[in-house]
Parts: sequence; structure tokens; C-alpha cells
Amino acid sequence: MPATPILNLPLVLLSNRGPVSFDRDVSGRTVNRGAGGLVSALSGLAEHLDDAVWVCGASTEEDAVVASEAQGGSILVQTSPYPHVVEDEPDGPSIRVRLVTTDPAAYADFYSVWSNPILWFVQHGLYGRALSPVITLAEHDAFENGYAAVNRVYADAVVDEVRARGGKALVLLQDYHFYLVAERVRELCPDVVLTHFIHIPWPGPDEWRILPAGIRERLLRGLLGSDVVGFHTRRYARHFVLCAQDLLGLDVDLDNLLVFVDDRVVRARYYPISVDTAALEATLSTEDVAGHVAMLRYTFLDGERQLILRVDRTDPSKNVVRGFLAFGALLDQHPELVGKVSFLALLQPSRTDVPEYADYIALIGAVVAEINARHTKDGRQPIDLRMAEDFPLAVAAYSICDVILVNALADGMNLVTKEVAVVNRRGGVLALSENAGAHEELGEYAVTLHPFDVQQMADALYGALTMPLEERQRRLAAAAEQVRTHDVGRWLSDQLDDLAQLAGYL
Ligand code: G6P
Repeated sequence: MPATPILNLPLVLLSNRGPVSFDRDVSGRTVNRGAGGLVSALSGLAEHLDDAVWVCGASTEEDAVVASEAQGGSILVQTSPYPHVVEDEPDGPSIRVRLVTTDPAAYADFYSVWSNPILWFVQHGLYGRALSPVITLAEHDAFENGYAAVNRVYADAVVDEVRARGGKALVLLQDYHFYLVAERVRELCPDVVLTHFIHIPWPGPDEWRILPAGIRERLLRGLLGSDVVGFHTRRYARHFVLCAQDLLGLDVDLDNLLVFVDDRVVRARYYPISVDTAALEATLSTEDVAGHVAMLRYTFLDGERQLILRVDRTDPSKNVVRGFLAFGALLDQHPELVGKVSFLALLQPSRTDVPEYADYIALIGAVVAEINARHTKDGRQPIDLRMAEDFPLAVAAYSICDVILVNALADGMNLVTKEVAVVNRRGGVLALSENAGAHEELGEYAVTLHPFDVQQMADALYGALTMPLEERQRRLAAAAEQVRTHDVGRWLSDQLDDLAQLAGYL
């Protein structure tokens, strides 16, 4: 896959969730591949290189056992034809993985206090501010003993892997869990080429002022240890440069998205992540999906009926509750649609250890019950809420929905939109929040939603459901073409090509 041998350097990757995780069943240890575009893109890269290692968190009990057996080292996982650990030479594509374990209390402060919710909430604009957040000694302690401490452990694992490769490597850090890693890795391994990709929105300086000055400055300084800081959109990259200017007083070049730190130049760049279109098409053609399609058609699409779909984690940033309120308003204002339009919501419970997330699930249930009670007709409830993770079912629903509702308050990219664009076969309309990163690319083919305006969303849903089929098909074809020509392989190769070009300056 790599268009260039990426500076001829070995590769060290870091992310919180890794490419594989281990479990145990009656047959013994099982190996599962991580899902999603990021894992498939980066696994593809790592599998093609002679020397690559992926450092990630041990997320299950069995991961911790595997990590302790490896005594802090890495293991080699052959990924095809089925994932398994190999001791000797693999006879198929493989990834070297280093699973990192940390003190459970420190990890809880890192993950369930600082990463989610605080950083996630600041970056998605989720705080109401009148009453939250409240930053007390507990949060300060959780930052030092949790976020910073865990970042140090991961940074040291990365440093270890870089040193094992002679001190020179391309280091690719992923996401908001690791803002303090780049600075430490650069300090200890000055010859690395370091990029940090942030998969969630990056807001402007005023949002960051929610955090204490000492903390926000450390986070920014940490990130500025990178050579390149990557985002999904130009807007986020600009905000990052503005933060360096406003919050750290650094010199910047806003037009060229550069930050000048000591004697170095840090580049903000944007590369919209995408989906693996070939893998999606392959999933669509499985028997499993075909079975789901038949069942969904029978349940939701007999006669002239129509289907609105949403597929999301139960994350407050996804704006699930206002989405249902908009649907309720649509049925109130267009009673002729009652019994004619269903709303299927496939939601995956997420981060339930964080109180805000647990409360949000309860609220979703209450709102759905109220709307269903108000609009049940002929024994048919308008909303079918299913709480489970079932990718084949999601792909089946993507392929036959009339409208996909993506009304996130803020979303780094939103890959559901791109998945639907590729696999929908019914002229499905993308009803897409103006605050999702995907809107920069696909907004012109979508019906735009204002995520706080329930009435606007109800009107937009009506517009989508009544749009002439020809227009629906024209928009969908154009959106699909955009995604097919900008798939996840391109996301990665654009970054690697840029890095190769930058190499002379780094
Ligand atoms: C977002 C983040 C990822 C994260 C994922 C799932 O997509 O950008 O880094 O892994 O959410 O969240 P979780 O907390 O379950 O890893």
C-alpha cells in the first residue's frame, strides 16, 4: 500500500485501541481484529512494512495476560487467513503488536476522567458551562496521576521501540488520549519523524480556556513535540494554529498553517479520513447481510413505506435525543406520515463507565418511549430502537434506508455518512449536520441539518422524504463517487506522500 517507502524508516504506531484484542472462550484464547477504517488503514500499512510495531492499550483481561507473557515486549500476529499469534516466520500478512498495561486506577483517571469526558467534552463543545465542568482537586490529581502518568508509560513504550530501531523511526500517534506523548518522545529520541493525528474536532482558543491555563498549555506543548499535527478538516487545523498563537503566544503563519516553536517548525495539516470501500462492498455481498436486508424490507418497507436510519455510539455528541425530538415534531406536523415512516436506530452502548454517558442512554430510552406512545398506529411503533453492535445488520440497513440521519453536535468526520454513500441502493438521502467533518466534503449532496434546531431538522427530514427519486439518486451517486475516489487508502497515502516531501525540511 505505501506509495513511498516513507523515508526508509521503521514505523512505530500508537493508539489507545489496537489492531487486535484477545479474549477467552471454551476453546481457549481467541484473537479478534479491531473494527473500523482507522484500524484497517493502519493495519494495511503496518502489514506491508518490513519493520513496524503497533503500541496500544491492553483493553481486555486476556490482553493483560498476553502482555504479561510478552514481558513488556511485542508479539507477532498473523492477520490472514485468520488472526493468530505466530512465534516464528509468518506465512501471511502480519503485525507486530505491543500491548501496554498500566495501573488500573491511573488508567481510570486517564480514560474515564480526562480523555472521556473532559477532553472529549471540550473538543465537541458539550459542556453547558453554567454548571459544568467543575474542576476540583480531584480532576487536577486525575490529570497528574492519570492522564500525564499514563501518557508517560505509553511514551516510554514508544521510546523503547524507537531505541530498539537505532533511535530513528517514523512515529504515528493517534488521537486525544496521547497529547503529552510527542514531546517526551522527541526529547528522548531527537531523530524521530513524529506525526500526531487527531480524529476529533479541534475547537478555537476560547473553548480551550475552559481548562486551567497550566493544563491546556501542557497539552498544546505536548502536541507541538510533533513535526506534523493532522486533522480531518482545514477548520480544525486553523483552530490549532490559532491556539498556539493565542494560548502560548507563539509565532505562527496562519495561511500556511505553521507554528514556530524554538528552532522548529510544526505543521498543521488536514486529511479527511474515509472508509475502505472495497471491504464495505464485500460485506454488502455476504449472505449474512442479504438475510438482514430481507428481514428489514419485510419489517419496514412494505408498500409505500419509508425508513429513516441512524447508526451511532450512544455518545452525547451524536445528538441522538434531539434527533428523536425532530422525528416526533415531523410526525406531529405531518400526521399523514404516521404509520408510513419508521425510524430504525441502531445504537451501540459506549463508555458506560462515564456517568454522563450512562445518563444519556437513560434519556434516549425515555424520549423514544414518549414518542412511540404518542404515535403508535395500528399496533406499529414509529421508532425501533436497538442497542447492540452488529455491523452486518448496520450495512444491510445502510443499503435500504431512505434517509440516514447524522445530526451530531460536533463530529471529527463521521464515517457512517460515507459508509451509507457507498452501499445505499435506494437513493438514500444523507441528512447531515453542518458540524460533522464529513459536511465539508459531502454537504453539497446532502440535506444540511442544524443540530440544535429541532424544527429545522424536522423540516429537513420532510424535505428528504419527499425529494423526487431522481434527485435523490443524483445526489447519492455524486456522494458515492466522492467517497470512492477519496477512500481510506488515499487518506493514508496523501499523508505519507506529504511526509516524504517534508522530509527535506524536518
Ligand atoms: C472515537 C475516537 C476513537 C475511539 C472511538 C471509540 O472514534 O476518535 O479514538 O477509539 O471513538 O471510543 P472508545 O472510548 O470506545 O475507544
